[in-house]
Amino acid sequence: MTTALCPGSFDPPTLGHVDVLRRALHIFDKVVVGVVANPSKAPLFTLEERAALVDELFDGQIEVVGFDGLLVELASELGATALVKGLRESADWEYEIGMAHMNRHLTGIETVFLPTAAEYRFVSSSLVKEVWRLGGDVAALVPEPVMAALASKQEP
Ligand code: PNS
Repeated sequence: MTTALCPGSFDPPTLGHVDVLRRALHIFDKVVVGVVANPSKAPLFTLEERAALVDELFDGQIEVVGFDGLLVELASELGATALVKGLRESADWEYEIGMAHMNRHLTGIETVFLPTAAEYRFVSSSLVKEVWRLGGDVAALVPEPVMAALASKQEP
């Protein structure tokens, strides 16, 4: 049985995330999303909110776990076959390749990169939050439950 571990901040999940996770489900027997407890930037959504949103979007098809600490330790606990990450532009590659090498150095785990669907290659959680905070329309970039969750934050 093959298991993909897809880690990230998911603050909030976007349609780009959904696309990558759906495609991972076609390749691996099982997909686990690892939602990092403390992202590098202060999150808009709590860990519980981010994990619940991912869970709601996949309706039990994937497992969602929150984690703090080293990603490779979570991967070992889960018996993950590989880490799976979406890649948008070349800047993602620069950021991700160092982590892929480090994670492989630590435990030997491989990272599988999936190119983000062309229509979502400009979509990031950070840009979604910035546009939303400034009153822009992000409805085409995030799933409906995320729009509802953003509305509940009532920032704009
Ligand atoms: O969605 P993000 O913020 O780009 O995700 C980054 C994430 C969570 C994948 C990365 O920060 C991570 O792996 N954090 C866990 C801590 C860790 O293992 N750091 C060493 C990475 S080589």
